[in-house]
Amino acid sequence: MGILSRIGVAIDSDLLTRFDQFIAKHGYTNRSEAFRDLIRDRLVSAMVESPETFVVGTVTLIYDHHSRLLPERLTDLQHANHDLIISTTHAHLDHDTCLEAIVVKGPSKRVQKFADLLIGTKGVQHGRLVMTAPKSSVLKTA
Ligand code: NI
Repeated sequence: MGILSRIGVAIDSDLLTRFDQFIAKHGYTNRSEAFRDLIRDRLVSAMVESPETFVVGTVTLIYDHHSRLLPERLTDLQHANHDLIISTTHAHLDHDTCLEAIVVKGPSKRVQKFADLLIGTKGVQHGRLVMTAPKSSVLKTA
């Protein structure tokens, strides 16, 4: 952490009340840490949108493993993009349903394109990509 700076922020009282309710619900014990987390989250969100930013993240997929050729298709896509994958975890949720969590890394644009291919594969019931940027990426693009 760098040197702490103190700032004053003018904020509408209704908005502040809603913010205080939000942070209490999420377990914050003071506003400062909540402000810092929101700022970091917004900065990371903006960074990962930049195509060349090095990101890490997860692609979570839910699908029915009885869907014809779907497991093979998902495996083929992962082999074709193996350089973007750190690990893959597969969980058999019930008799029909699979969850696959793929830990990914690489340039933001490639990771997003790969996630779109996986999530858009016919038979995938739901998918979501979550990206973040390690601290080294924040420093590289600052
Ligand atoms: Ni399964």
